[in-house]
Amino acid sequence: MDKKRAKKEIGELTKVLEGHNYKYYVLDEPTLSDAEYDRLFRQLEELEADHPELVIPESPTQRVGAEPSKEFGSVKHTIPLLSLANAMDENELRDFDVSVKKILEFEGEVEYAAEPKLDGLAVELVYENGKFVSGSTRGDGVTGEDITTNLRTVKSIPLRLRAGSTKIPSLLEVRGEVFLSIKSFRELNEHQEVKGDKLFANPRNAAAGSLRQLDPKITASRPLSILCYGVGATEGFNSGNHWETLNRLKELGFPVTVHGKLCNEIEEAIEYFREMEKVRDKLEFEIDGIVLKVNDLSFQDRLGARARSPRWAIAGKFKPQQETTLIISISVQVGRTGALTPVAELEPVNVGGVIVKRATLHNQDEIDRKDVREGDRVIIQRAGDVIPEVVSVIKSKRNRASKPYHIPAECPVCGATVKRLPGEAVHTCQNRSCPAQLKESIKHFASKGAMDIDGLGDKLIEALVDKELIRNVSDLYTLTLEQLSSMERMADKSGQNILSSLDKSRDTTFGRFLYALGIRHVGEQTGRVLADEFKDFESIRNAEVDSLESIEGVGPIVARSVRNFFCDGKNKYTIKRLFQLGIKFSEIPEKRSDVLKGLTFVITGTFEKRNRQEMKGIIQSAGGKVSSSVSKKTDYLVAGENAGSKLKKANELGVNLISENKLSLLIRDSIKPDE
Ligand code: IVH
Repeated sequence: MDKKRAKKEIGELTKVLEGHNYKYYVLDEPTLSDAEYDRLFRQLEELEADHPELVIPESPTQRVGAEPSKEFGSVKHTIPLLSLANAMDENELRDFDVSVKKILEFEGEVEYAAEPKLDGLAVELVYENGKFVSGSTRGDGVTGEDITTNLRTVKSIPLRLRAGSTKIPSLLEVRGEVFLSIKSFRELNEHQEVKGDKLFANPRNAAAGSLRQLDPKITASRPLSILCYGVGATEGFNSGNHWETLNRLKELGFPVTVHGKLCNEIEEAIEYFREMEKVRDKLEFEIDGIVLKVNDLSFQDRLGARARSPRWAIAGKFKPQQETTLIISISVQVGRTGALTPVAELEPVNVGGVIVKRATLHNQDEIDRKDVREGDRVIIQRAGDVIPEVVSVIKSKRNRASKPYHIPAECPVCGATVKRLPGEAVHTCQNRSCPAQLKESIKHFASKGAMDIDGLGDKLIEALVDKELIRNVSDLYTLTLEQLSSMERMADKSGQNILSSLDKSRDTTFGRFLYALGIRHVGEQTGRVLADEFKDFESIRNAEVDSLESIEGVGPIVARSVRNFFCDGKNKYTIKRLFQLGIKFSEIPEKRSDVLKGLTFVITGTFEKRNRQEMKGIIQSAGGKVSSSVSKKTDYLVAGENAGSKLKKANELGVNLISENKLSLLIRDSIKPDE
């Protein structure tokens, strides 16, 4: 390809990828599937490799690449990054409003922009003429550390600004909070555990540890997010109030919170404070309060600042999520892979509105590091829907007679030997038929992201194993109505329902099935990656470690685990039996085709087998386009349960309807919808 064409294509690809990032991170409306994104990304990489002179620093391919540094340089902030004064309850928020009005000598109601107070790390990003030039930590507020190369790896930070209705400012300093979502935090700790590395105490520490890595490649491997909440020095950026600033930032390509609210007066802001405290555990990230900001910028100017905090903003802090309590005893839970997890049985305590009775101690290394013993007074912490954990021991209150705790040498459930394999942090029960392992594997097998067997709850699974009606996961599919009805508190109807859920679950996807098998280190995402890569079950069953490891997203630990799983005689038996009992996949794994090419779909309602994102994925990988609203250009509406206005509109416009099952069949058999 000649240079001129290459330049044009590089420019177009960059635009498409940037556009996707914007839709994904800022608007939360992804338009490309991961696979499609990867394909375009690779295309750009190849073009750039052929024409290195055309690579610009803002290219999506240039996020990682810098060499590790010895130390961070320091950066003086143009305008100091102040801290926030705290209000500990609603009344202190009212006091704040009174003092604002008093300083302003204002008789009416003051408007407040209300936002969640994210619990991460404050950073400043500097853009000159639309290009990201540097980024720093808050530091002491006046001087921070230069972490530009690390910040470049955060995918939601735009490397260049979006041209739109907001003019690109010649200078723009943007402030925001970098954090790890709770899900990413958990995954990171799982990885740390697998590698035998130190666990992070909470998402905040994990985010801080990740941002302050001297090697940007490590930062890049941690899925950090950012939400922007304000600006520092600017040139050519006009805004009359804070709410408008947030909207302009969004337009320019920065992720800003979707949970903010513009409140007309303080009582409305207090209502917001209550609401956010209620929903805090449901958010994807940790927040420790809310922030109220006087919306009008001229009011902000008049209010000014104290030494460390502005007079125009305040943090409303939620009730603490940490408490002290007593460890009555330490028990051990056996998981589906036989891993033993030590758990502190606590004197029940109310932590931020939830009664906590147990807290995880993770593993022996963590117990040793914190020196946790039975009878200790401890500080426990709860965050989001993360399992509560013991943060530290109050050593001054320790009973002198207490002794260090050791995980037992025998499994507390079946009495078999417990071993800790070299290089692993966990102790495992060596008995493959341990009833605890079986119960947990079945719970996992039946769970939503796996075989999704409706109605088969934990209690019932435990009872079925205890009664020895199930000795192997596959026995689920031989259960009879008589057996189910013989269980306690089981009506005929619910037995029947469970049988039909079981029957329905037989028809699954390759990825879900791989996840359901409970292979160590294979989560939902890895299950899908493996399913995408292997054509059929035979190929993955016979895959060698090397070929597994060559798959992107599969490391040596996962590769070995998959190989070991399929070499194991008991697993071979289980899988064979599951197939004999009717498990089948509704999509052939190599589903990338173009049967739906040229067709536009709209998805609405809820579906039995997939969520909407998955539905979108299968349409796109079969070459179809997915749009968010019904119009004359829509070819098919994929309508699930509870389809509402979109269905109505489709009917009015005479758009064809198609069901989930029909669509699966079309894709599987590569038949065009109108054939
Ligand atoms: S505004 C002068 N807004 O809280 C205004 N800060 O205790 C100061 N934070 O260092 C910042 N979410 O790291 C603001 N929506 C939000 C915030 C927020 C979290 C952090 C920020 C700051 C700290 C102040």
